[in-house]
Amino acid sequence: MTTGTVISDTARREDLAEESGPPILRVEGMTVRYDSSRGDVVAVDDVSFSLGRGERVALVGESGSGKTTLGLALAGFLTQPSVHITHERLEFDGVPVSRTVRTRLPVRTPGLSMVFQDAMTTLDPVWTIGSQLAAVIRAQRAGATGTDGAEAGAGAGAGAGAGRRWLHRRSDRAVIREISRHWLDKVGLRDTDRVLRARPYELSGGMRQRAMIAIALCGSPRLLIADEPTSALDASLARDAMEMLLGLTRESGASVLVISHDILLAQEYTDRTFVMYGGRIVEKRSSAKLAETATHPYTVGLLRCVPTLDSAELDELPTLASIAAVGAPAAPSPAPALAPAPAPAPAPAPAPVAKVPVAKVPAPSAPSPVAPAQRRPLTRTDHREGQ
Ligand SMILES: Nc1ncnc2c1ncn2[C@@H]1O[C@H](COP(=O)(O)OP(=O)(O)OP(=O)(O)O)[C@@H](O)[C@H]1O
Ligand SMILES: [Mg+2]
Repeated sequence: MTTGTVISDTARREDLAEESGPPILRVEGMTVRYDSSRGDVVAVDDVSFSLGRGERVALVGESGSGKTTLGLALAGFLTQPSVHITHERLEFDGVPVSRTVRTRLPVRTPGLSMVFQDAMTTLDPVWTIGSQLAAVIRAQRAGATGTDGAEAGAGAGAGAGAGRRWLHRRSDRAVIREISRHWLDKVGLRDTDRVLRARPYELSGGMRQRAMIAIALCGSPRLLIADEPTSALDASLARDAMEMLLGLTRESGASVLVISHDILLAQEYTDRTFVMYGGRIVEKRSSAKLAETATHPYTVGLLRCVPTLDSAELDELPTLASIAAVGAPAAPSPAPALAPAPAPAPAPAPAPVAKVPVAKVPAPSAPSPVAPAQRRPLTRTDHREGQ
């Protein structure tokens, strides 16, 4: 492992994962660099981790820290010439895979699906939702029956050309339609016939995101990488949709790497939380113990910005900026800041991790704006009671 400055309490957790068989995903020394007109950007810098079977891990971090790049690289979607990926070791379900090889189109990894951050631009506008679902179902069934191999196009972004060689009998089409309806229904889309016939631009943002989740799950993935899968939904729907997504993967036993800005959600619904900063995973913690064990200033600051029952008494909620500036709760912020806000004052970065331009982190060891005993985060029940 070459994780450099990683702060981790997960050695034992990973030992236990090993005992129950090889991890579903093992990554060692992955680096992703983009060539750009303004010079090279090292978006992912020497990242290593393992994901156990059935484990759910949240990947959090400020904007631009490399979360999406890591997810896309792992899923095999970064194949353009301007991207350079290296890794010492990458295994999916015990089998070595490579992301360093250039291909014209992304190569599908059977058993691995991805839900993308932006449903509008990643769903194919030319094909109906039904065709896009059918492509993944055909590819999955063909893989399961050995009638076809891995195909170009993957997960939620699979083109409708996938699985062409699979049988096209009327009865097969009926089966695919039934499976498609089943998944649309599972993700809470009601008018399934209309959705199947619709092209992405004919659906609302929330419907598109649900459709993308259905497309990703209908291939029965063993690992789902979900990049802010509910970003197009309003706060209450986003929680329900996230619960739905995690519930469905729990049913199937799939492992999940969910990228999110919502640290509360990470604590509540995942086994472990990884924190990314400047392209590196700087913290790997048990989600249940995140609040007590986090040491990286970014994580500590983010946790202090979580609204609590007691912070309702404050005139204004703390933000990363206010914590960095004065270590006090009342910063001139117009809104509760669950998402990281840029720090106004230059603060020393805690670890030598920044090879890409990143926002400043809050100053370390700022006193807690709310006494520790009062810092119980709001729970779903609290939200409901408050409605
Ligand atoms: N195609 C690209 N070409 C050049 N640089 C890129 C490209 N895509 C991303 N980057 C850069 O890589 C870095 C990481 O971007 P990435 O999208 O992975 O961040 P992120 O953590 O997902 O952010 P957010 O939370 O805003 O989604 C950023 O500095 C970004 O500008
Ligand atoms: Mg992103």
